[in-house]
Amino acid sequence: MSKQLEDRKVVLRHLTLRDYNDLKVAMEQAYTGSRMSYWTEDSIAQLLDIFPEGQLCVEMNGTVVAGALSLIIDYDKYGDEHTYKDVTGDYSFSTHDNDGDVLYGIDVFVHPEYRGLRLARRLYDARKELCENLNLRAIIAGGRIPGYGKYAGELSPKEYIEKVRVNELYDPILSFQLVNSFHVRRILNNYLEGDVQSKEYATLIEWNNIYFQAKDKLINRKKICCKTRVGSMANASYAISRCIKRAN
Ligand SMILES: CC(C)(COP(=O)(O)OP(=O)(O)OC[C@H]1O[C@@H](n2cnc3c(N)ncnc32)[C@H](O)[C@@H]1OP(=O)(O)O)[C@@H](O)C(=O)NCCC(=O)NCCS
Repeated sequence: MSKQLEDRKVVLRHLTLRDYNDLKVAMEQAYTGSRMSYWTEDSIAQLLDIFPEGQLCVEMNGTVVAGALSLIIDYDKYGDEHTYKDVTGDYSFSTHDNDGDVLYGIDVFVHPEYRGLRLARRLYDARKELCENLNLRAIIAGGRIPGYGKYAGELSPKEYIEKVRVNELYDPILSFQLVNSFHVRRILNNYLEGDVQSKEYATLIEWNNIYFQAKDKLINRKKICCKTRVGSMANASYAISRCIKRAN
């Protein structure tokens, strides 16, 4: 483990509204230069209200520096050619459905000063654990490809993705998603309005929950939250609430 991390106290946990000020700074910094805006406090409050288990953050020495936000959706309603607006219900989260089948990643960000410390990996691992615990069949997201803008004159999105896949090029988001066992299902056009860095292209990425049991969804099951598990992960404090499903 790097000296940098040894000296820091890292906690992975659920987000609360009290974290908003830190979160806003992290979002603003993470999206600097991208013309993307950050989530308002009202939006975060709403997400916490409808799906608190899906909103995760990493705290470093008491300050929240990274976050991952998710919804559950009924994937067939949107299909593979959706936009970010479609899947978030025009940013209202009206698409969230507790009975849905897919955990949809609507955001992941790390404050630039804390990049490369595998904080996003921790958030993705927690998302995978949540997906398994909720018996959802997959995690899906539209991944920005901010490195593409620079190559748009010489490479098609397909060629760019292939070069990132074989490690000839590095994309801060796609490279991270590929090393975290996501695969690219397809290329999305006009996915995220205003994402000039990606030329509004995105990759539809997916991670399959190999423990998913279709039958379980049919039995009367109740999702009961939340019991806190505290373990240790590479010398860092690691805490994450766990959602348990239990038969009636
Ligand atoms: C996407 C994002 C969250 C990743 O954060 P991060 O701090 O880089 O994440 P991590 O440190 O967990 O992982 C980075 C991975 O990329 C790898 N990586 C870093 N630099 C690399 C390089 N030059 N070449 C190849 N891989 C590299 C790291 O090795 C690491 O993989 P590992 O876990 O196997 O070591 C961050 O870039 C971000 O906040 N971006 C802006 C917000 C955004 O657009 N979010 C996505 C919305 S779709």
